Amino acid sequence: MPIATWNSRPILLAPSILAADFARLGEQAREAEAAGADWLQADSMDGHFVPNISFGPLALAALKGTTTCLLDAHLMISNPERYIEEFADAGAQHITVHAEACTHLHSVTQQIRATGATVGVALNPATPLMMLDDILEDLDLVLLMSVNPGFGGQRYIEHTTTRIRRMRQILDERGLTHVQIQIDGGISAANAREIVGAGATCLVAGSAVFGHPNGVAAAVEEFRRALR
Ligand code: DX5
Repeated sequence: MPIATWNSRPILLAPSILAADFARLGEQAREAEAAGADWLQADSMDGHFVPNISFGPLALAALKGTTTCLLDAHLMISNPERYIEEFADAGAQHITVHAEACTHLHSVTQQIRATGATVGVALNPATPLMMLDDILEDLDLVLLMSVNPGFGGQRYIEHTTTRIRRMRQILDERGLTHVQIQIDGGISAANAREIVGAGATCLVAGSAVFGHPNGVAAAVEEFRRALR
């Protein structure tokens, strides 16, 4: 269930399990679900597209058995076309690839669509929005990275708010109001209002949720209060 409604748009929270305690991943997923999280984002990293290695389809399959949250696979990997079906078979109901990692982006979005998963494309902080000009009609979600991908716990890049506003304007002008604007990196209850106010509809938060001193439920409630 959305954590808020803003301009009559449901606002989703997608805790990033990259910040969870890997020794008790299932428990943390259940905590996030019980707290009201809508999605769980799984950040897959290959040590090539980004300077870090995290987890792949096997971990996602294990997670799938522990939660009814929608599993959102954020593929920070080069040539993601090699693994789309594996992530979908593992239980990813949404798959986001990076435009910068795809030679044939249109083909990859069709490949994701063919699995039955919804389709997202991510842009790194310095990648121009216009890179998506000719693919927006094929997307369910645009992920604007608000940190340089690879690690949790980084600071929100302030320029992202301008990018969110511009992307919302583009989507609204083109009648693509169903396309989610997801933001990932340095998101907390402290900047949630600014980010949603600019037009974001899905917030990815790792440290702010799984690193919260009072636990996951308190963290999610803080986001709700911030967006009331
Ligand atoms: C970066 C990751 C992180 C993570 C969220 O590649 O995608 O942005 O999901 O990290 P926090 O919320 O801890 O900044």
